[in-house]
Amino acid sequence: PLSLSALAAAKGMRFGSAVAGGGGGSWRNPALADLLRRECAIVVAENEMKWQAIRPSPTSFDFAAFDGIAAFAAQNQMKLRGHTLLWHRPKWMPRWLESHDFGSRPATAAAAMMANHVETVCARYQGRIVSYDVVNETVLPEDGSLAETALSKAMGGTEALVDLAFRTARKAAPGVELVYNDYMSWEPGNALHRKGVLRLLEGFRRRGTPVDALGVQSHLIAPLPDAAHRREWQRFVDDVVAMDYKLVITEFDVRDRDLPVDIPSRDRTVADTTKAYFEMMLDYPQLKDVLAWGLVDAYSWLQGFEPRADKAEARGCLFDSAFKPKPVHAALAQAF
Ligand code: XIL
Repeated sequence: PLSLSALAAAKGMRFGSAVAGGGGGSWRNPALADLLRRECAIVVAENEMKWQAIRPSPTSFDFAAFDGIAAFAAQNQMKLRGHTLLWHRPKWMPRWLESHDFGSRPATAAAAMMANHVETVCARYQGRIVSYDVVNETVLPEDGSLAETALSKAMGGTEALVDLAFRTARKAAPGVELVYNDYMSWEPGNALHRKGVLRLLEGFRRRGTPVDALGVQSHLIAPLPDAAHRREWQRFVDDVVAMDYKLVITEFDVRDRDLPVDIPSRDRTVADTTKAYFEMMLDYPQLKDVLAWGLVDAYSWLQGFEPRADKAEARGCLFDSAFKPKPVHAALAQAF
């Protein structure tokens, strides 16, 4: 069968996946490396570019794990995305930041730390990274307001901080796609999250902040919401593209936690959910890149994130733990 990247390429698109630096989901696993080579035209590091991975201290960087992934991509002629220059939630910033002393001029010191981070990463991977999630998940799902961290507090506001991250990235990585990435609570009953993201995107345009695309994470929850909710989701995406943003599907997988355990029926529902979602999303010419958040069930973050009550394995990836494609793979192939 044709690989997903071949099918995507036939539509002028790219398909790819997240890859880890260690463990079974790593590019060092030969079976997984083969699968990545076959299916993917673009890869992204699952964790290895986050502050927690590359900033052991306020004054140092550690690129060892990410360099391995970047080299794997280069050796296999895969494009590379950068995730992420700022996952702006306290939980996902390094511990040392919480007690960091920003001195007598905190706004200046915080701005220098943010700009230096972006400049250092962008300079190191100049010409190798085609797209950055500059800022990840700074809109709070509860009410759509902006998250704060020690960094944004020192800086005097989250808008100032995220604007600086994008402006610095534009200068440090000219010609590279700059993305705001979020999950937007695709499931029903969370309109405030999407409203908050729209407000942020409007603000970027008003202030002239250089943001090219919205990263739509696409951690779907099966089964698919009803038609009314799907229309609400489409209105959200319509509003985004009307502001002249491109779209990237950055972290596709499907949570099957709430489905009955029977495997054939579970796999069917995951596939149907995927088919309906991609039929909607592939209608947008603004969408060129689709990345899965890992290819193989056994190594998916979903095994640890909200596991099933019955402890059964999550089956939210395109390939099962024996590396066999599942109905969801065929559904995505068909949608392309
Ligand atoms: C996840 C990784 O998959 C896990 O290994 C890690 O423990 C936490 O982060 N949204 C994102 C990704 O933007 O960075 C997250 O990745 C999944 C949700």
